[in-house]
Order: sequence, then structure tokens, then C-alpha cells
Amino acid sequence: MTKEQVTTTLLTEKKEQGKKITMLTAYDYPTAKLIDEAEIDIILVGDSLGMVVLGYEDTLQVTVEDMIHHAQAVTRAASRSLVVVDMPFMSYKISQIAKTVENAGRIIKESRAQAVKVEGGQEVVAEIKAIIKAGIPVMGHLGLTPQAINQLGGFKVQGKEEEAARELIEDAKALEAAGVFAIVLECIPSEVAQRITAEVKVPTIGIGAGKDCDGQVLVNQDLLGIYDKFTPKFVRKYANLNQEISAALKKFKEDVEQGDFPSPEESF
Ligand code: KIV
Repeated sequence: MTKEQVTTTLLTEKKEQGKKITMLTAYDYPTAKLIDEAEIDIILVGDSLGMVVLGYEDTLQVTVEDMIHHAQAVTRAASRSLVVVDMPFMSYKISQIAKTVENAGRIIKESRAQAVKVEGGQEVVAEIKAIIKAGIPVMGHLGLTPQAINQLGGFKVQGKEEEAARELIEDAKALEAAGVFAIVLECIPSEVAQRITAEVKVPTIGIGAGKDCDGQVLVNQDLLGIYDKFTPKFVRKYANLNQEISAALKKFKEDVEQGDFPSPEESF
């Protein structure tokens, strides 16, 4: 029996039924296949790609072409999970809304993903509406929005003061009114995430936003212990692949150098 494809409607139903939503990032075929087989609801081809795969300092250098290239690999593997692709820095929030829609359209058309994600609140509503009008589902992203890192002054918890919290709630309501199907809440106090989750009908998906969000997302490289440059407090490491991979690579070198690899069984 083929498994039911996750849709944006199914995610809304999950929120209504109090069932938690799961989302993980992937940037390549084999990882996406494992995530899909694990029945994770959403695969996010995040622009965290820039940091955890391409080795940049932040996400700002990632291009539309980078996103399409990696999203193509992910959609080849995903048969059940909903695939959402980040719109990278300066592919939206630009003066021409038509260019924003064109970029979103290219991502969907060339990658065969189902939706795009954009960062920001009330300031991005016009663009969200235009993308949705073109028939493309949009996921929002509030709180610590890494593309605004230079404005935020670093990777810091957002919405700590009451006024900032109220602003976040207003942003969430504006995104909901604009038609997003879900909102990522990144690095905000748990109580603020709880208030937002109670006030909007669309599912919230938290990362460093406490347990009361409708779902949770992590960067796969963090969860698997592959990216070791920096581990945020909200990450739970479910494996330490960095160490395992490093040990395997060293063992290969040792085996070759000592003449232990290949063995007669591994030769023709
Ligand atoms: O780019 C990304 O991986 C993200 C997640 C952290 C939500 O936006």
C-alpha cells in the first residue's frame, strides 16, 4: 500500500486533531530518502544549506540556483513527505514583486517541490500574497530569521520583551491572513510560541521555541551530530556521526597503508 502523501491540508488537520508535526532539513538524495522513509511530515530544503553543506559563515550567499540544485535531489527521493524550499536572501523582499513570484515559480517548476518558505512578518505580506496568487503554497518564518542576521546583531533569542512578543503575535496573524499554510517559529521564548500557537489556526513549527508549538523542526546535520562548528542550545543530538565518520576514514587510511585493504575477498 502506498503511503499517504503529506499535503498542506493534512498539516492543518493534524493541528486540529492535536497531532504533532515533524520537519527536518535535507539537501541531498540519500538523506531525503531516509527522512521520507522515516515518515517525517515535511522535508525542508533550508538555506541552512549555505552553512552546513557549503561551508559559508551564514545563509546570505545562497542563490536560487543553489536551492533548485539541492531541492531537485531531495524531490527525487521524497515520495511521501511534503517538500518545502527556502527562498534565499534577496530572491524576495526586493522592490519588484514580479521578480519574487518569478523566483518562487522557478524553484517550484525546476525542483518539483510543493511549497516555498520565506522569512519575515508584516513587511513580507504583499509578496506572500502574490506568490500564493500564483498557486504556490507558502510557509512563513518568524523570530530569529537568519537572513536578517546583520540587522538582528547575531544568532540571539527574539521576542523576549513584551512589546517584541506582541509584535511577533501581530506578525503571525498577518502571515495567517496572507494565507501561509504554516509558520516556523525560531528561537523565541516558549510562552510566546505558546501564545502564537493558540492565536493562529495555521500550524506553528518550532525550533528553539519550546514544546507547545504544533510541530518541531531541526537541521538534520545538527540532529545527527555532523555539523560541529556550533551547536545551539535547542539541538538534541540523536547521533554523533562526526566521530563515527572520522573514525571510519582514519581506519580506511590505516588499512590501505598497512596493506589490509583490499583483501583477497575484496579483489577479482
Ligand atoms: O534554513 C533552515 O534550515 C531553516 C530551519 C532552521 C527552520 O530555516
